[in-house]
Amino acid sequence: MSTSSPSPLLALRGIGKSFLGLRVLYGVDLDVWPGEVHAVVGENGAGKSTLMKVVSGVYSPDEGAVEFAGARRTFHGPRDAQRAGIGIVHQEFNLLPERTVAENVYLGHEPVRRGLVDRVAMLRRTAALLASIGEEALPADAFVRQIGVAQQQVVEIVKALALDARLLIMDEPTAALAGHEVEQLYALVRRLQERGIGVLYVSHRLKEVFDLSGRITVLKDGRRVTTLPTADTTPERLVRHMVGRELSSYYPDRAGPGEVGPARIAVHNGGNRKLRGVDLRLRAGEVLGVGGLQGSGRSALARALFGAAPFTTGEVTLDGAPVRLRSPRAAMRAGIAYVTEDRKGEGIVAGQPVLDNALLASRAVLPAWTGRRARTTRVRDLLAAVDVRAAGEDQEIRFLSGGNQQKVVLARWLALGPKVLLFDEPTRGIDVGAKSAIHDLVRRLARDGAAVLMISSELPELLGMSDRIVVMRDGRIAGELPAGATEEDVLALALGTAREAA
Ligand SMILES: Nc1ncnc2c1ncn2[C@@H]1O[C@H](COP(=O)(O)OP(=O)(O)OP(=O)(O)O)[C@@H](O)[C@H]1O
Ligand SMILES: [Mg+2]
Repeated sequence: MSTSSPSPLLALRGIGKSFLGLRVLYGVDLDVWPGEVHAVVGENGAGKSTLMKVVSGVYSPDEGAVEFAGARRTFHGPRDAQRAGIGIVHQEFNLLPERTVAENVYLGHEPVRRGLVDRVAMLRRTAALLASIGEEALPADAFVRQIGVAQQQVVEIVKALALDARLLIMDEPTAALAGHEVEQLYALVRRLQERGIGVLYVSHRLKEVFDLSGRITVLKDGRRVTTLPTADTTPERLVRHMVGRELSSYYPDRAGPGEVGPARIAVHNGGNRKLRGVDLRLRAGEVLGVGGLQGSGRSALARALFGAAPFTTGEVTLDGAPVRLRSPRAAMRAGIAYVTEDRKGEGIVAGQPVLDNALLASRAVLPAWTGRRARTTRVRDLLAAVDVRAAGEDQEIRFLSGGNQQKVVLARWLALGPKVLLFDEPTRGIDVGAKSAIHDLVRRLARDGAAVLMISSELPELLGMSDRIVVMRDGRIAGELPAGATEEDVLALALGTAREAA
């Protein structure tokens, strides 16, 4: 018989935390056993990330105690927690873009030989760690700025593994991953579990929570509502605990016949460094879904239409007239809005207040003095409509929870009253309640005549929201699917395994 440990790996007792007098956590208790995957769920701003940061030594709690491996601990910063065996993959990445994958993995604990950083060993060990989780395709010497978001997520995980963590915290580890990449993460989590590593798993994707966890703790407004064995509950019941009410699991109705108008934006044979032979018509009144794997050209397509990485070949027309979308400003002036997938990198101005962040796009397009009052009122209405939870509109956006930051970015673009909306993973990191509000909003925009292009790695969302779906592969449109297509249809096109249509 193996000697099972008599005490939990991690025990949180009565954790309380405030920021500048604002209370965020109240008396939270939570245990994690070796080999247990313990999920933590709750609405945006419930306190999940804050709790994870207490465990990982980023914050020290105002009240309560952290026990790890049987002893009461006070961590003096994240390094201290790492040395004790607690690794964390943060919701927002903390990688250095100008360094390589290996340098990021071993940052602060580089292998040393004769007083110098042993680069060869560092590369070798990183490659071995990548291989151990089935990610050998990612080169250890690639610069982080050159790799995609999903790969950055892999680097974050490998970084934690390199520290020999006994407890691994994952704060929305799949927010940036596409379907098949999520499967890889599942396999990885199970491998960690077999090695006796405890995992704290924060996610808004309830399917993952049910697939992976043994127990689930629900936080609401900084308090622990309940802890349940996963086998004893259902998604519906969990949502009720989280949101405090029933929530319909339906997507809004699709565009009916006659609701879809002429092409707002059309591309003929569009190409650039990342795209080839793109033919696309995005019509007023429709939601066009874009599927595909990371790096398949989904974001490149949105960026080309927004003028951020323009088409260099082919023709684009807007409402029937030829246009050249050479810059984001030109696109914005033409009524095109773009919600980027890279919120931290290009979505928000971290040190500025919520309201200014929300006003950013409208200010860039209109002279400062026109319609200032009206514009501000409109933005305030939109912030309320997407249900941003902040201390106030003057709060710096960096202090908002991840999901609430995303809602501010949405409000900013909606304020333009755009004709064409390009959404790149619009509901990433957004809780179940706010998500269905955003789905309704997207559909309403289409119904009011906007043309909506929506990229989503979450297949149920892609299938549930789209009037039709184009699937990208290797910079091309691999095929188009009507409403009613299945997850398998999308994956087959994305992976290139689709049989030729009969
Ligand atoms: N450094 C900080 N200063 C001030 N307030 C903060 C700080 N960090 C977090 N908060 C506030 O604490 C609350 C909880 O935030 P937290 O990030 O823990 O939420 P969350 O449950 O992780 O949400 P999400 O699902 O959106 O990621 C929010 O109201 C947030 O604005
Ligand atoms: Mg969070």
